[in-house]
Amino acid sequence: MASIENPPDRVVQGMFDRIAARYDLVNRVISFRLDNGWRKKAIAAVLRSGNERILDLGAGTGDLTFAAAKSAQGDSRIVGLDFSLPMIRLARAKQKADQNGDRTHFVQASALRPPFADEVFDGIMTAFVLRNVSDLRLFFIQSFRLLKPGGRLVSLDMFPPSKGAFSLLYSLYFYRVMPSIGGLLAQDRQAYQYLSDSVRQFASPEKIAELIEQCGFEKVTLQRFLFGAVCLHVADKPRHKNK
Ligand SMILES: C[S@@+](CC[C@H](N)C(=O)[O-])C[C@H]1O[C@@H](n2cnc3c(N)ncnc32)[C@H](O)[C@@H]1O
Repeated sequence: MASIENPPDRVVQGMFDRIAARYDLVNRVISFRLDNGWRKKAIAAVLRSGNERILDLGAGTGDLTFAAAKSAQGDSRIVGLDFSLPMIRLARAKQKADQNGDRTHFVQASALRPPFADEVFDGIMTAFVLRNVSDLRLFFIQSFRLLKPGGRLVSLDMFPPSKGAFSLLYSLYFYRVMPSIGGLLAQDRQAYQYLSDSVRQFASPEKIAELIEQCGFEKVTLQRFLFGAVCLHVADKPRHKNK
């Protein structure tokens, strides 16, 4: 399969550094809070037994990390990793006020060079990150390395929706209106234009599923929401090494 071309790390990191302070506000406005339901589905897929170690790759300001901490049982711990320091600082500020903040821990690092030993996590989740990763194959290879045998990878992301009336409406909103609203609220039109363009130019969800499988995962499944505008990939690391 041809490699999936995403922008270089420094461009993406610089952009998220710039929009971090307004990120939560803009997200709430442009998503109509629909993301809460999809996040719950991702969390239900990754939390399986209680007493788990879960990693949130590209955690941003920690929305998914805190939502998982709220649902987690027993002695579970959720680690949020992001390469943007302003994002990590905002997550740490929220951690102090969050009821389940003591279950969480935030690390500034690249998802392509995560500072953890092999096979330490029971689950890895990631939301709205894949389109921004410069080397997606390495992203999945690192995720595979970090997971214990039998561990689970869960990814939630945006894709161009399937054709039809909804697709037209969506295109109008997401490719035209959203960059203006984001640009206005975050005072950074370029960043929200990039976020919009990155969906249009991204690989199909089937290609992503194929890549996940190529990186060693099994039982790869794909769930579509909102006519395919948002997809949830779930995949397991085999319990036994393939011969
Ligand atoms: C669109 S935001 C999503 C944040 C969060 N997951 C959420 O659901 O709100 C993407 C995040 O991924 C981070 N990111 C992108 N590429 C990364 C990489 N290679 N390593 C670590 N973080 C990365 C960005 O800094 C940004 O905070």
